[in-house]
Amino acid sequence: MHPLRDSLRPLKSLTSTPPPFDPSAAPDNPLELFVQWFTHAVEAGQVEPHAMTLSTVDADGVPDARVLILKDLTDDGWWFASSSASAKGVELTANPVAALTFYWPAVGRSVRVRGTVTRGSEEDNARDFSRRGLGARAVALGSPQSQRLASHDESEAAIEEAARELDAHPELVSPTWTLWCVRPESVEFWQSDAERRHQRLRYSSQGQSWSTTLLWP
Ligand SMILES: Cc1cc2nc3c(=O)[nH]c(=O)nc-3n(C[C@H](O)[C@H](O)[C@H](O)COP(=O)(O)O)c2cc1C
Repeated sequence: MHPLRDSLRPLKSLTSTPPPFDPSAAPDNPLELFVQWFTHAVEAGQVEPHAMTLSTVDADGVPDARVLILKDLTDDGWWFASSSASAKGVELTANPVAALTFYWPAVGRSVRVRGTVTRGSEEDNARDFSRRGLGARAVALGSPQSQRLASHDESEAAIEEAARELDAHPELVSPTWTLWCVRPESVEFWQSDAERRHQRLRYSSQGQSWSTTLLWP
């Protein structure tokens, strides 16, 4: 196999200059700082700023991770949606803890969230499902996410069948469609520096309030 080292070496990372960040002036609540940083990333033209890596742990303690879309941020925490029968769904049922990682290269910033995970109510799940377009609903209804697939034809037939069902019964809701909320225990804000003197500010939950600490880069 051709080693990648020579192709990797000239590649640049952390090329953008973040705006000034003064941790001593940061809000008391990390959710507020997240909204500030997220809004800034959107305004800076970050592509898919709402894409995040969700890390979970399976029943044997082995980590797993994949990219998802952030669906909401409320006082409860960070929300995402997926199938409860998927690998992540099974893992979250066995071990309802998770970590989220955002990286916004356009502004040289990253945010890490760790916490416990709870499920949305049946009504919330159904409402979220019904807001999806027909194609997305057909995939969610007709495909057992993360299960072994024999062939592309098999999935196409199942999804077309689900689309026909949804056409006839638009009120149908996938029984596995689930909203999850990561309730933060800790949230870290990381900002790059050209000289690699990166800034790190970690919030830790103290029940009703938050404590903060700086971290070495
Ligand atoms: C940018 C991006 C956004 C994604 N958003 C979602 C999502 O919101 N929900 C979802 O179930 N999968 C989403 N996926 C697919 C997941 O990465 C993953 O393949 C899928 O959820 C199965 O993961 P699992 O087998 O670990 O359960 C997204 C993938 C990418 C690259």
